[in-house]
Amino acid sequence: MTERTFSMIKPNATKKNVTGGINALLEQGGLKIVAQKRMQLTREQAEKFYEVHKERPFYDELCEFMCSGPIVAQVLEGENAVMRNREIMGDTNPEKADAGTIRKEFGDSIGENSIHGSDSAENAAKEIAFFFSEMEILPA
Ligand code: CMP
Repeated sequence: MTERTFSMIKPNATKKNVTGGINALLEQGGLKIVAQKRMQLTREQAEKFYEVHKERPFYDELCEFMCSGPIVAQVLEGENAVMRNREIMGDTNPEKADAGTIRKEFGDSIGENSIHGSDSAENAAKEIAFFFSEMEILPA
């Protein structure tokens, strides 16, 4: 089933100038980048995006980090894109991620793990709508 997922390259990765390396792994993994924009999140936007984690001890640190530099918001399309993207990203903790995954290759820590990806089709639709209008997304 062809579907879409939301992806966000995090500030530690834009700072290291490795967005091209990350995109190469997404493409080699079979996903197409059908929309992409580099932007700076405000603290308010970061807090709203990660609202589900509001009660977690790392929420403040996470929001602070996510607006510490540019991010790249993306829409990825492909066969089972949500699950496929999670495989390509690897474990949330870069130390536990398999070799060749984005977080293993480009992650620095569990918080600064280079990339976010939606965890379900339902959240993907919400996260895409948070960042993109329909007009900004071309079919693959
Ligand atoms: P992400 O996919 O962006 O979704 C929530 C993020 O919270 C997750 O990736 C991690 O980067 C971050 N996170 C999870 N656990 C911790 C933690 N223990 N400390 C700091 N950040 C964390």
